[in-house]
Amino acid sequence: AKGAAMVTAVAYRLTEQARQIQQTMAEFRLSKTQLLEVKKRMRVEIERGLKKDTHKEATVKMLPTFVRSTPDGTENGDFLALDLGGTNFRVLLVKIRSGKRRSVEMHNKIYAIPIEVMQGTGEELFDHIVHCISDFLDYMGMKSARLPLGFTFSFPCLQTSLDAGILVTWTKGFKATDCEGEDVVELLREAIKRKEEFELDVVAIVNDTVGTMMTCAYEEPTCEVGLIAGTGSNACYMEEMKNIEIVEGNEGRMCVNMEWGAFGDNGCLDDIRTKYDQAVDENSLNEGKQRYEKMCSGMYLGEIVRQILIDLTKRGFLFRGQISETLKTRGIFETKFLSQIESDRLALLQVRSILQQLGLDSTCDDSIIVKEVCGTVSRRAAQICGAGMAAVVDKIRENRGLDHLDITVGVDGTLYKLHPHFSRIFLQTVKELAPKCDVNFLLSEDGSGKGAALITAVGCRQRELGAQ
Ligand code: GLC
Repeated sequence: AKGAAMVTAVAYRLTEQARQIQQTMAEFRLSKTQLLEVKKRMRVEIERGLKKDTHKEATVKMLPTFVRSTPDGTENGDFLALDLGGTNFRVLLVKIRSGKRRSVEMHNKIYAIPIEVMQGTGEELFDHIVHCISDFLDYMGMKSARLPLGFTFSFPCLQTSLDAGILVTWTKGFKATDCEGEDVVELLREAIKRKEEFELDVVAIVNDTVGTMMTCAYEEPTCEVGLIAGTGSNACYMEEMKNIEIVEGNEGRMCVNMEWGAFGDNGCLDDIRTKYDQAVDENSLNEGKQRYEKMCSGMYLGEIVRQILIDLTKRGFLFRGQISETLKTRGIFETKFLSQIESDRLALLQVRSILQQLGLDSTCDDSIIVKEVCGTVSRRAAQICGAGMAAVVDKIRENRGLDHLDITVGVDGTLYKLHPHFSRIFLQTVKELAPKCDVNFLLSEDGSGKGAALITAVGCRQRELGAQ
């Protein structure tokens, strides 16, 4: 009888434990009503960003990009492109040929940006960038050619023209001093002058979302939206000029860089944020900022998972109640690990071995729980990101007075491309929340480099026209 009582006690403890774990996970499971609410709130913030009276305090900034049309195939020439702000820093040479046999040829080199440089002084950061350009030009044997350059700079910039952009605030892992409030194109030009080795003509500053949209639009003219679901999260789309109140003129359209990562910074998502989201925010370089991005982009998903695992361990449900040094380490769960852990082809034993590699000693039960935590966090990410996109496509549909809209979205980003479930859940959500839109998603091949070159080509042409 004693044995039976013990068995019952253990069974009770286990079901109670399972119940509590499920309760924790439940906070991350959003209903359709909640997702529709997220969509609705995104729409409200979009309007606030576009309107002159509310633009200043708006969280979703809706920044004008001065890109007024998608490419038309007549773009031509050789361009340099820089890509700063994604997973890697790259310098590229892009050769675009127009005419019957349109083609784009690219050469690129990846450079590391050490964390001391990302978080040092602005001068050091830009000197480092110019040092890399110098190395690349040597490598390509092109030091003497004064090429036009497009700078993909994937941070919020307040643009007053194609080639001027004031950094509003750093996001993601960057925090170099003396850059916020400055025109980044000027910072780059000054660094090129300091080096005294070569000349370049900086023609355009480009957000990665815009580069992605342009790259896809080069192949598919119905592409008028760009999405990045990677280290960070953001979108852009072609908005009617008359709705962009902070830019003069009412004719035609202009691409707006939404900077939707900052959605929620005014507290409007507080009812769905969990204590784990708050902990991630408090531990970050930019507390209180980019709250939506911190719930749905690659740089932070692993951190949310880590916060939940710490809590479950403290409550004695995981890792025998022992919080290891590894679990205390920020950034251990990179997107690629989450993607591996959630892969359906992986047996639990392999999940355990991944955790082992990360320095986490797990039992079989632990690995089941870890996998479930990862799945729950990435599902919510894909869903709220989908809710944001649903708001965007419905806005475009309404702009055009249509009952039904067919549209293409160009997409890039490690989370979208590497994660085994993110894209599928994201697509499903957009479909469910924006039933009047048929949205076609197109993966972009190297949007940041190609897109920057295409925009630079258009910029050069506009300049020539202006000079006539
Ligand atoms: C961050 C940046 C934004 C960029 C996005 C994706 O949200 O602020 O400019 O587009 O990351 O890289």
